[in-house]
Amino acid sequence: MRVAVIGTGYVGLVVGTCLADLGNNVICVDIDKEKIAKLNKGICPIYEPGLPELIEKNIKACRLEFTTDLAKAVKNSYVIYIAVGTPQAKNGRADLRYVKQAAEQIGKAMESEKVIVNKSTVPVGTADMIKRIIAKHYKGEFHVVSNPEFLREGSAVSDFLKPDRVVIGYESPKAKKVMQQLYKPIKARKFYTDIRSAELIKYASNAFLATKISFINEIAMLCDKVGANVKDVATGVGLDKRINPHFLQAGCGWGGSCFPKDVTALIHIAKQHGLELKIPKAAKDTNRQAKLLPVKKLKKKLGKLRGKRIALLGLAFKPNTDDMREASSITIANELKKAGAKIVAYDPIAEENAKRIMPWIKCCQEPYETLKQADAAILVTEWPEFSKLNFKKVKRLMKRPIIIDGRNFLNKETLLNMGFEYEAMGV
Ligand SMILES: NC(=O)c1ccc[n+]([C@@H]2O[C@H](COP(=O)([O-])OP(=O)(O)OC[C@H]3O[C@@H](n4cnc5c(N)ncnc54)[C@H](O)[C@@H]3O)[C@@H](O)[C@H]2O)c1
Repeated sequence: MRVAVIGTGYVGLVVGTCLADLGNNVICVDIDKEKIAKLNKGICPIYEPGLPELIEKNIKACRLEFTTDLAKAVKNSYVIYIAVGTPQAKNGRADLRYVKQAAEQIGKAMESEKVIVNKSTVPVGTADMIKRIIAKHYKGEFHVVSNPEFLREGSAVSDFLKPDRVVIGYESPKAKKVMQQLYKPIKARKFYTDIRSAELIKYASNAFLATKISFINEIAMLCDKVGANVKDVATGVGLDKRINPHFLQAGCGWGGSCFPKDVTALIHIAKQHGLELKIPKAAKDTNRQAKLLPVKKLKKKLGKLRGKRIALLGLAFKPNTDDMREASSITIANELKKAGAKIVAYDPIAEENAKRIMPWIKCCQEPYETLKQADAAILVTEWPEFSKLNFKKVKRLMKRPIIIDGRNFLNKETLLNMGFEYEAMGV
């Protein structure tokens, strides 16, 4: 099938590349000229395991192209995906300006029947808006589908190709058939529903997952008070099939490009309809507390932080990504800065993106340099390499061997036996 993907970011690039790998002819579009120029040279603009190889393979097979010419891409395709960003606007709602722009450009370029598939995470009713915008410019037949995306950065390729489910909201049987054909090679449950339900499924899923993490983070705070171990509590709880062990890892808060904005947008959607969603609101509050917890623990150990050198291990919002959006490291670094601490950080991948958000942060090229003469270290992102550190060397290098493990990632017993002052989140 001939497919155009409008928006070549984390989602659009993965979706476009994977659809090409499934045998479709895909043309990915972006307004970012630099990004498209890189992709046309075969350079992947984001860090995503397995993606560069797949891009190269499909470019060579002549199934994957990149362009800034949206009109040409639309004219040459039958299925048009919208995968542009839907960031958070000031009042908490989803900012739909890129979706509106894309819909308008698609409508203006259309000369024949198309299926428009919305992949962006959008408030309920957005498909109707897309329809209205396109209908202003194109008077022929077209179909709009809602197909929310559930991939996770860091495992995006396999998440797209081997998902738990594919959700498709549709109205026209013709569009359903096209989607059936497109997703035939993907072996997963295809759940067909109405468009509004599909739009809400994405927000409800993300809010549920964020709430699950906030719940275990609150239990971790209680573990600290009562002397229990949240890792064991989570294991015991997660063995119940009704609960399952996923998203029960306590730590210093959730971030990323999706959970924070999607939970906030869901609260806003409900508010617009006169409903207060108390649980997602509470999940957000707990998350703020969880992000602040490492610094709170550090202040308890060190007293005043003014002039103290604090090493941050990891900056990305989670391992295997360079995405810094809403990362816990931002809250932690800002809190440390406010307290007058000197911050030194190391992240294997996210330094460049971190510097864009926090130009004042000092980064080192390797972890030992970061830990040299540090009064304490906070592990913020559980990059695998941090568990393989030579902790004898770490102890020698640090001024005071305090480790606050924000992800319950390191071995407490080993570190305590080595003479570290070790604190984690409910462990
Ligand atoms: N990142 C994730 O893990 C993830 C997972 C599931 C769903 N989503 C959702 O998918 C959507 C996209 O997210 P993302 O992380 O890929 O965003 P992103 O910011 O990485 O990419 C969006 C891209 O769209 C481009 N763009 C904007 N307007 C355009 C236009 N008119 N024409 C062509 N290109 C245009 C931008 O230049 C950018 O490259 C969002 O709604 C997000 O909530 C994201």
